[in-house]
Amino acid sequence: MKKFTYIFFAIFIASCMPNNKNTNEINIYSQRHYNVDEIQYKNFEKLTGIKVNVTKANADELIQRMKNEGDNSPADLFITVDVGKLWQGGDMGLFQKFDDNSVFENIDSQLLDNNGYWVPVTYRSRVIVYSNERVKKEELSTYEDLSNEKWKGRLLVRSSSNAYNQALMSSLVENLGSENTSKWSEGVVANFARDPKGSDRDQVKAIAAGQGDIAIVNSYYIGLLLSSQKEEEIKAGKAVSVFFPNQGENQRGAHINISGLALTKNAPNRDNAIQLIKYLTSTQAQETYVKNSFEYSVNPDVKPDEIVQAWGEFKKDPVDLNSLGTNRNEAIRIFDKTGWK
Ligand code: FE2
Repeated sequence: MKKFTYIFFAIFIASCMPNNKNTNEINIYSQRHYNVDEIQYKNFEKLTGIKVNVTKANADELIQRMKNEGDNSPADLFITVDVGKLWQGGDMGLFQKFDDNSVFENIDSQLLDNNGYWVPVTYRSRVIVYSNERVKKEELSTYEDLSNEKWKGRLLVRSSSNAYNQALMSSLVENLGSENTSKWSEGVVANFARDPKGSDRDQVKAIAAGQGDIAIVNSYYIGLLLSSQKEEEIKAGKAVSVFFPNQGENQRGAHINISGLALTKNAPNRDNAIQLIKYLTSTQAQETYVKNSFEYSVNPDVKPDEIVQAWGEFKKDPVDLNSLGTNRNEAIRIFDKTGWK
């Protein structure tokens, strides 16, 4: 009986131990789609000797995959470009909590997860860009004003299946309530210059081609266009200016989203994953992000790239970022109901 108790106790202790296998690799499931990531992982490999394996797909596919793989998933880190998907993964029990304060002390507290699952690595604003030829800055003010009739046939935006739009709509649900947000969405749809299609970059190109006058896009795409090798892209970037909405004294600020990561529940290479989290949030890696992808650093001491600095500083909507996940179903219902394709 004593022996039996001992064995039971040994198994119990073993099951409590974190996965500390001495491995030399890390497996990432990533939705990010920017060249800067290869630079980051190469630098990390050089520094630590830890090999970074990346599986790229969209967030829904990766979440489904982790769910199907269960405890045997090879993934250590899940990386997305939308906090809503991070909230969802946490809600589904796919992650373990991460509470290393040495990481958090370098991060703007507004960008942190109140539930303790995900860690932001960059943030971005979903801004309005406008034609330098056909729109004056003074005509723009808030997201709410995009439903104003004066923009009829002039507004460009991608489809509602896109997570960036779903996050923006979720922020409006949080700030204005469902009813007001539905009315807003109806007005916005009535102002479309064309049926939603293409990427954020494509909306900017459409302004340059005269197919519309204003567009809703993520801030960093303007930096990517202006620094592109392609003449056509530089031209598109130069045809527009960036406007941060809702900056008035009593207004909440521009909508932001994060790109972030979470440690998976059974991360087989947990120690290596934590090293990578520390690396990606370090000053060095944060500078690599801002210079190459034109995103904003989560570390307030790391200044944006010069191209981004030229747009000026802006006030950020202070909503709890997890509300961009919890309001997601309501946001999708409003898209459907108001005919935003
Ligand atoms: Fe993007």
